[in-house]
Amino acid sequence: MFYGGCDVGSRTAKAVIINEDKIASSALLDTGSSPEVVAGNVMDTALSEAGICMEDLSRIVGTGYGRRRIPFAHAMESEISCHGLAAWWSNPSARAVIDIGGQDAKAIRLSPDGGVIRYMYNDKCASGTGRFLEIMAEALGLPLSALEETGDKAVKRCVLSSQCVIFAETEVISLLNAGRSIPDVVAGLHFALAGRVAALARGIGVEAPVVMTGGVAKNKGVFKALSETLGLELVSMSGVDPQLAGALGAVLKAREYANRC
Ligand SMILES: Nc1ncnc2c1ncn2[C@@H]1O[C@H](COP(=O)(O)OP(=O)(O)OP(=O)(O)O)[C@@H](O)[C@H]1O
Ligand SMILES: [Mg+2]
Repeated sequence: MFYGGCDVGSRTAKAVIINEDKIASSALLDTGSSPEVVAGNVMDTALSEAGICMEDLSRIVGTGYGRRRIPFAHAMESEISCHGLAAWWSNPSARAVIDIGGQDAKAIRLSPDGGVIRYMYNDKCASGTGRFLEIMAEALGLPLSALEETGDKAVKRCVLSSQCVIFAETEVISLLNAGRSIPDVVAGLHFALAGRVAALARGIGVEAPVVMTGGVAKNKGVFKALSETLGLELVSMSGVDPQLAGALGAVLKAREYANRC
């Protein structure tokens, strides 16, 4: 039996197909301007990788900010429950999840069976989200994927005081003009983002082990900064791309619904 999960996020759309309890295929595309179109394209990509067609999927669940615009989904689920379920599935000892996506960040406390106990999210301010890194990478003339390696070379990391992404961009330029190195600035940016997300996580009293999900989890500089700021053990998703967590949670929900019927 095959099941499908589709997460249409603000920056990227993701699809995961499972064959009972094994991941058969996955796909990730930039969201672009049409959630309907990208949902179809990302699911088609995953279907062709798995060598099956849409009719072979017993059940499909959609999630993400564009979940209402996924024409082929049989049901919708919140991102909170999908990220929680995916984190628990990959790391059953997980007691919390921190998801940092393109436009929001979420902190979720989990029960021992993967249920959501409490959560908090920030979708009001870009400075605690992946968008912050995108803007700063552009300001520094670096590709997003180079931030981690650049931050690793820091000798004395900068401390950024601006709470707002626009002011932080100005602060970065001032720091460079004052002679601070790009690695020191990048390490400072990682800690600035970590500080904002840590405040969210403390607000719900997260406990270790904490699984980090979302595209920003691919940047180990933010991962380490968050772990250090929280003073808690952060773990990566075992064997799964953390950016696929929402779609993975959705497909696990699809299987759960099908088994209930
Ligand atoms: N290789 C990478 N290194 C560092 N950061 C990355 C990398 N790839 C993606 N990102 C970050 O991941 C973010 C997108 O993550 P994700 O795909 O989880 O967001 P989303 O689900 O579309 O957004 P949201 O959940 O907020 O609607 C980008 O904003 C970027 O900052
Ligand atoms: Mg997301």
